[in-house]
Amino acid sequence: MAEKVVIWGAGGHAKVVADILRLSGLEVVGFLDEVNSGRRGQPFFGSVVLGGAEQLDSLLHSGVRRAFVGFGNNRRRLEAGNQLESRGFELVKAIHPAAVVAADVKLGVGTMVAAGAVVNPGSGIGKNVIVNTRASIDHDCVVDDGAHVGPGASVAGSVIIGRCAWLAIGSTIIDKKHVGADSIVGAGAVVIHDVPDGATVAGVPAQMLQHAKKGDNLL
Ligand SMILES: CC(C)(COP(=O)(O)OP(=O)(O)OC[C@H]1O[C@@H](n2cnc3c(N)ncnc32)[C@H](O)[C@@H]1OP(=O)(O)O)[C@@H](O)C(=O)NCCC(=O)NCCS
Repeated sequence: MAEKVVIWGAGGHAKVVADILRLSGLEVVGFLDEVNSGRRGQPFFGSVVLGGAEQLDSLLHSGVRRAFVGFGNNRRRLEAGNQLESRGFELVKAIHPAAVVAADVKLGVGTMVAAGAVVNPGSGIGKNVIVNTRASIDHDCVVDDGAHVGPGASVAGSVIIGRCAWLAIGSTIIDKKHVGADSIVGAGAVVIHDVPDGATVAGVPAQMLQHAKKGDNLL
């Protein structure tokens, strides 16, 4: 019988996660939506929206011990992962069969590696990280907890990506740079200097965005 897993999140990113977990042989018992309580009971991507986090205890009691946080807000995803673990859930990993992860790479719990992504030798990936579709992380990188390496982002060797940093779609980081915690690297940016904690940078070469609204990266 397939092991059961619940996914916290019920948007586009949660669909991608569900697809990967099903490919790994898990049964997705449902999705949690903290934002819209009106979706409770509605069908969603081959399963159902169960309600919000108030459902966690009854899920545990019914024997669902595995969980995955499948939404894009980095800080919140990390918090939700910690919350699940402290309640007694096991956070699973979601590694697409068409991802390439070198044998020595350590991946934290709750981390997703999507289709076409590559993680090369010597790199370490934290917990609740998203390595999104076709992203590449080269050798000897460190990707801290809660970070999101966006679709098609390219990270060269020996780069450090800080906690909850977001590398947006198609961005590039040259080797040996440090991308600070909670920073945002805009779509298509090319980072050639270190990025300070909390900064938003964009452009080629990447420069600070003075007027960025610090938009949330909800998916
Ligand atoms: C960097 C980003 C987060 C900034 O968003 P924001 O705070 O809402 O910024 P705004 O759209 O208000 O733009 C602020 C300024 O920065 C510029 N800018 C925004 N993103 C830029 C980018 N990627 N490259 C170059 N300039 C950019 C805007 O043109 C604007 O300039 P102006 O003040 O001269 O008009 C956003 O533009 C981005 O790149 N998002 C990535 C989306 C993505 O990857 N989605 C996939 C999710 S899986």
